[in-house]
Amino acid sequence: MKAVVIYRYGKPDVLQIVDLPLPRIKPDEALIKVRFAAANPKDTFIRKGRFKLLTGWRFPLQLGSDLCGDVIEVGHQVNHIRVGDVVWGAVNGWRGGAHAEYIAIKGAWVAHKPTGISDAEAAALPLVSLTALQALKQFKAGQRIFINGASGGVGTAAVQIAKVLGLHVTATCSERTVELVKSLGADELVDYTQQDIKRLDAQFDVFFDVFGNFHFSSVQGLLTHDGRYITTVPNPRNFWDALRTRFTYQTAQVIVVQSNIADLERLRNWVETGQLKPVIDSVYPLSDIRAVHEKLETKRTQGKIVLEIAQQ
Ligand SMILES: NC(=O)c1ccc[n+]([C@@H]2O[C@H](COP(=O)([O-])OP(=O)(O)OC[C@H]3O[C@@H](n4cnc5c(N)ncnc54)[C@H](OP(=O)(O)O)[C@@H]3O)[C@@H](O)[C@H]2O)c1
Repeated sequence: MKAVVIYRYGKPDVLQIVDLPLPRIKPDEALIKVRFAAANPKDTFIRKGRFKLLTGWRFPLQLGSDLCGDVIEVGHQVNHIRVGDVVWGAVNGWRGGAHAEYIAIKGAWVAHKPTGISDAEAAALPLVSLTALQALKQFKAGQRIFINGASGGVGTAAVQIAKVLGLHVTATCSERTVELVKSLGADELVDYTQQDIKRLDAQFDVFFDVFGNFHFSSVQGLLTHDGRYITTVPNPRNFWDALRTRFTYQTAQVIVVQSNIADLERLRNWVETGQLKPVIDSVYPLSDIRAVHEKLETKRTQGKIVLEIAQQ
């Protein structure tokens, strides 16, 4: 099978498409023939070696987190899906594998694909919408949230999920993506190229730093007395802030997404009822993987880049 791999960390030219043996499943896994897979900033960070301590030095290293595809085989411990089902989901942890024709993935990380959306749209959602859901499900209707980075993959899911949960959403993006973010339901918009976010005259129960260019101390003044700063960036400073604020009124939290069936089912319901819509920037063939990494690194994608893996 064809798969995207790296044999060393580096620039996009270390990405290769090679032939690998078909993966063999364990009792708790399913073999999926991948139709479409999403591209994520995480793929570029892993390629560059930013998470070397976690991704290790065992090569080839496969990339790719979330996917939509056909179930080809299931281990005897996997009961919720069957051969022939079409599923969506994401790989947890640091060694990927979704940018390949087949993947052996834990059954607990995939669930039935929502109806009413295309396979490419289904592949676009798992990682980013699970991240947004797991960050926001702790909050109650009526609370005020600020979303930084609202027009990217996680941001477009976060704005919609925050609205489903009944939050009041103030979002920031640049002028080029204002119409998109407005169409997703944001109540108020701030153009971060025109206004200094840290000096906004407002208070929020949640500051969701999706883009990750702030930190807890820099936005404490924007938080209510028991407000929470949530970041998607798992670095030592952010983990330290989360630890040291455990018993203070204002708190910091680092979100580390985990795919699971219950959350995928909750998201499926929102997709099928039209409350959560995938936002696709572009679709590329797997052979364009280097160009896709270059495009991701511009940090200018609106919604998701999706890779077409299998020709239907
Ligand atoms: N911890 C976890 O479990 C987890 C899970 C998923 C993602 N993440 C991380 O979350 C981050 C965001 O992921 P993503 O998929 O949403 O990224 P993305 O789709 O690549 O984000 C692109 C967006 O960033 C916006 N942007 C660029 N510069 C900005 C700035 N200075 N301020 C605010 N927004 C800016 C752009 O909008 P404009 O052009 O409008 O500025 C663009 O739409 C990444 O670091 C990713 O690795 C972490």
